[in-house]
Amino acid sequence: MATKLYFLICSTFLFHFTIASRNSPSALTITQNPNFNTTVRNYTHVCHPDRFSDLGLDIKEFAYAIRRFKCDVRVKDLIDRMTLTKNRGNWETTRMGFRESDSQCTWWSEALHGVSNVGQSGSIATYFDDVVPGATSFPTPILTTASFNQSLWKKIGQAVSTEARAMYNLGHAGLTFWSPNINVVRDPRWGRALETPGEDPYVVGEYAVNYVRGLQDVEGTENTTDLNSRPLKVAACCKHYAAYDVDNWLGVDRYHFDARVTEQDMKETFLRPFEMCVKEGDVTSVMCSYNRVNGIPTCSDPKLLKDTIRGEWDLHGYIVSDCDSIQVILDDHKWLDDEPEDAVAQALKAGNSVKMGKVKEAEIDKALKNLYIVLMRLGFFDGSPQFENLSKSHVCSDEHIELATEAARQGIVLLKNDNGTLPLSTKNIKTMAVVGPHANATDAMIGNYAGIPCQYTSPIDGFSKYAKVIYKTGCGDVLCKNESLIYPAVKAAKKADATILVVGLDLTVEAESLDRTDLLLPGYQTQLIQQVATESNGPVILVIMSAGGVDITFAKNNSNIQSILWAGYPGEEGGIGIADVVFGKHAPSGKLPLTWHENDYVDMLPMTSMPLRPIDDLGYPGRTYKFFNGSTVYPFGYGLSYTNFTYKLLSSTKSLHVKLTKFQHCRDLDYTDGSYKPDCPAISIDDLKCGDDDHRVKLELEVKNEGKRDGNEVVMVYWSPPSGIVEAPIVELIGFKRVWVGKGQSQKVDFEFDACKSLGIVDYRGYNLMPSGGGKLVTGDGLLEIPLHIKFER
Ligand SMILES: *[C@@H]1O[C@H](CO)[C@@H](O)[C@H](O)[C@H]1NC(C)=O
Ligand SMILES: *[C@@H]1O[C@H](CO)[C@@H](O)[C@H](O)[C@H]1NC(C)=O
Ligand SMILES: *[C@@H]1O[C@H](CO)[C@@H](O)[C@H](O)[C@H]1NC(C)=O
Ligand SMILES: *[C@@H]1O[C@H](CO)[C@@H](O)[C@H](O)[C@H]1NC(C)=O
Ligand SMILES: *[C@@H]1O[C@H](CO)[C@@H](O)[C@H](O)[C@H]1NC(C)=O
Ligand SMILES: *[C@@H]1O[C@H](CO)[C@@H](O)[C@H](O)[C@H]1NC(C)=O
Ligand SMILES: *[C@@H]1O[C@H](CO)[C@@H](O)[C@H](O)[C@H]1NC(C)=O
Ligand SMILES: *[C@@H]1O[C@H](CO)[C@@H](O)[C@H](O)[C@H]1NC(C)=O
Ligand SMILES: *[C@@H]1O[C@H](CO)[C@@H](O)[C@H](O)[C@H]1NC(C)=O
Ligand SMILES: *[C@@H]1O[C@H](CO)[C@@H](O)[C@H](O)[C@H]1NC(C)=O
Ligand SMILES: *[C@@H]1O[C@H](CO)[C@@H](O)[C@H](O)[C@H]1NC(C)=O
Repeated sequence: MATKLYFLICSTFLFHFTIASRNSPSALTITQNPNFNTTVRNYTHVCHPDRFSDLGLDIKEFAYAIRRFKCDVRVKDLIDRMTLTKNRGNWETTRMGFRESDSQCTWWSEALHGVSNVGQSGSIATYFDDVVPGATSFPTPILTTASFNQSLWKKIGQAVSTEARAMYNLGHAGLTFWSPNINVVRDPRWGRALETPGEDPYVVGEYAVNYVRGLQDVEGTENTTDLNSRPLKVAACCKHYAAYDVDNWLGVDRYHFDARVTEQDMKETFLRPFEMCVKEGDVTSVMCSYNRVNGIPTCSDPKLLKDTIRGEWDLHGYIVSDCDSIQVILDDHKWLDDEPEDAVAQALKAGNSVKMGKVKEAEIDKALKNLYIVLMRLGFFDGSPQFENLSKSHVCSDEHIELATEAARQGIVLLKNDNGTLPLSTKNIKTMAVVGPHANATDAMIGNYAGIPCQYTSPIDGFSKYAKVIYKTGCGDVLCKNESLIYPAVKAAKKADATILVVGLDLTVEAESLDRTDLLLPGYQTQLIQQVATESNGPVILVIMSAGGVDITFAKNNSNIQSILWAGYPGEEGGIGIADVVFGKHAPSGKLPLTWHENDYVDMLPMTSMPLRPIDDLGYPGRTYKFFNGSTVYPFGYGLSYTNFTYKLLSSTKSLHVKLTKFQHCRDLDYTDGSYKPDCPAISIDDLKCGDDDHRVKLELEVKNEGKRDGNEVVMVYWSPPSGIVEAPIVELIGFKRVWVGKGQSQKVDFEFDACKSLGIVDYRGYNLMPSGGGKLVTGDGLLEIPLHIKFER
């Protein structure tokens, strides 16, 4: 039996490689020789001419090494050559110019909000030491998302990839990063909300596209038409695909959870961010998740992987499985009959042997091709001259630290500000009581998937720049198990000109593998807040650090608490970001990327019920602002400002005339009893020639700053579908722009919507339909409604 042996470049990477084959989904794993010394690496790129001449080879005879050839041509040549031959008893691996060290590469690195040292233990991934002691730790994504500023999201991605490249040059990081996490926060209890861009699939997708482009794109080559040759700065990965958002809730864990998901929710909510990440972000990798979807493990579902990601969305890259998720599903692999593992391992020297189940050679070739093209685009084979001068000074640079501070400032959300208490003035405030379990927060501010930050600026450090600070914790820690430390905090508040209460959650309450069971502040935090507020001499400002929403109705109601800020987990410079907002150096304009539910919401439905729409028979309310119509502590998109904005409609597209061919049929939509149902209720968006003027909706607004301070405003445009359609979203965000408007000035804000993308309704079968009628656009906190008419014409 002819056995193909591979000399695998970057083979440790393939440890996590999945292949979905047409008939029997199966997996390939590579086992690592435990004796191989993984600390020896060589960063000389694979196709360096010296390597060939050292071996007496002519580089010109190796198509894979010739740069001007297209990547897919080069990779085909490479894989064709990988079959090893036995020459006088020795396996020949070096006749291609390869070195043993080429099989090693750091395949697991993370960069959720900064270069992180989370990674494969026992082998080399990203690490910090005296050479690179830390990297810039930006706010966790949930806070950065609250800025609703696409260019900030991209800029952070660019800063992170610059630091990653610099660390790679120093041998301290890989090139393939398993970030971002773009699962939609379907339920307010989810422990991983901090890692995500929130509850709205469109916002999550926009964040993904911008962050991925920031990580991956090489300036000046963004528009390369051959996507298999488009250069990469680092490789990003959109995860976890799909419908993954239960970690560990009342004993239900992610490894065993079977998410029962309808076609409608799958398309409309769970897949949409991934679709945007692949199609608009051109991400190089998608990671499948631990959970099952409707009984099938996501990593072995050919419909989800091959048909959708590769087929429909045209991924240029590879699909990777989450840590061990292959082991979870791989129960039936067998060794190649005629080549025992140790012989293969010996022959390959690099310490890797191929372990194959029902995987065909052609499938391995295809999988290798997807991976090697990405490595080639990263410069792994040819080097990347444009990044080679990045070094130590580019990590934790002043510019990046300032960007981390700026991201915190832009994201912080003002939830309450009675009588314009904020901003405070240093004229009146000489001493401040800064109290609460997060008053001196450091590592809590960087959440999870973090590295070692360059430094920390805690809240007490931040406020010390403005006034004299009296610091009391009020609680032993976030769990605040008893009242013993409350009195000293009250005493401090009595003495000071103003009181800042910094409270909230941390990874002991919401984290990976830890969902919440209620939405309250833990332990005695509520008592701390109420007692301090009652006794405080000056104004009381409550600052909440958390990812998920917290039911703070008591504080909203308490007139002794003048102001409330949400600061997410604000990153290494969080303290200065908060202080700058409190003292008005920066005017807040963040908006909540999540609904803040009242605590009784969690009693109304189990976390494991996946449907987004209400289930009336069971009394389950809807999920997310699109389907929940009840009362909230603060709604999605909420956020106040230090000034006032008014909106005026300048112009808008009044009606769309969508031309149908005679082959296009009308599709049915259910309407509620008594509501008007048009003759042709809807058409299928897939049947339309999208992208032309027929389908474009333009909107021109004027936003005026009527107040006495300069400020930023996030302009959000929602679509309210035609009334009467059963199970349509209540409203749906279709566009947003953050703009700066000076006091007394106006700013024109333009939007252009593609009706095919923005005005669709996913029906119960998963079809994307454009309803007749049009509905209306809604903006300016619901005060400005703009009717829209859609007519189908033959
Ligand atoms: C691996 O190689 C490094 C560098 O040559 C050496 O310092 C280290 O001791 C080796 N580790 C083992 C386990 O052999
Ligand atoms: C790395 O490659 C260079 C040749 O480019 C060689 O001089 C050096 O010894 C190699 N280092 C290791 C650790 O293999
Ligand atoms: C790539 O295309 C975008 C959109 O058309 C354009 O704004 C940008 O300038 C282009 N970039 C380059 C480097 O040509
Ligand atoms: C690095 O080198 C490139 C040219 O190879 C140059 O364009 C770039 O400005 C340099 N960057 C730094 C930070 O020196
Ligand atoms: C706002 O200030 C006015 C006048 O000082 C005071 O009467 C009122 O109670 C304040 N309102 C709140 C909510 O603090
Ligand atoms: C704040 O926390 C840091 C890190 O834990 C610690 O070193 C420092 O002493 C704390 N500051 C105060 C005033 O307790
Ligand atoms: C109360 O909490 C503090 C701080 O966590 C701890 O030191 C103390 O032992 C606790 N007291 C009681 C009675 O549990
Ligand atoms: C808050 O105020 C509302 C309206 O006045 C009231 O219905 C509610 O019971 C109050 N809740 C709390 C927790 O104080
Ligand atoms: C809100 O949703 C629930 C659950 O579907 C429904 O029973 C109720 O009628 C809705 N209320 C309003 C005001 O639309
Ligand atoms: C904004 O307008 C509201 C209502 O018109 C007013 O009560 C409030 O004081 C204004 N706020 C600022 C900061 O100008
Ligand atoms: C958006 O973020 C970028 C990058 O930090 C910043 O330059 C810009 O001013 C921000 N836009 C607004 C309106 O805040």
